[in-house]
Amino acid sequence: MTTAIYPGSFDPITLGHLNIIRRAASMFPQVVICVMINANKTPMFTTTERVEHIRKVVGRLPNVRVDTFDGLLVEYADRFDHPVVVRGLRAVSDFESEFQMALINKKMKPNLETAFLASSEKYTYLSSSMVKEMGRYGADLSDFVPYEILEDVVERIRRNR
Ligand code: PNS
Repeated sequence: MTTAIYPGSFDPITLGHLNIIRRAASMFPQVVICVMINANKTPMFTTTERVEHIRKVVGRLPNVRVDTFDGLLVEYADRFDHPVVVRGLRAVSDFESEFQMALINKKMKPNLETAFLASSEKYTYLSSSMVKEMGRYGADLSDFVPYEILEDVVERIRRNR
């Protein structure tokens, strides 16, 4: 069975991520969202918090589960018989780093494919960093963050300010 691995920082999960997850869940028999470490980012939310957030949000999607891994994506992918990495592409600016990541992963594990889903137009501008930035200034985040975790995220960003 093909397993779509959707890796990311999810710091925090946004409506843009959720859109990609829903679409991946309708394309693949099984989707595993994997909270991973991005060496270029310092997360605001702990791994446990991020996993809890995602679980609250995807609870009703029967073929989606959440996991964490502190290592290379290609090592994580080895756990599955037929893994495919799924990533969302928002804009041309995402392309270079995403392409590089897909090629590095393919170099390390030649049979690991990366499938890119074009972000839905209404979420093209959205990122976790933007959510944190807006939240710091007290902006309404309800158009950006799933309602199940909105209160948690707002409170946590406020405390971190
Ligand atoms: O949501 P992000 O921060 O864009 O996700 C990036 C992530 C976590 C998927 C990427 O940094 C990653 O795969 N990290 C695990 C370590 C790894 O495999 N690195 C090699 C590919 S860059």
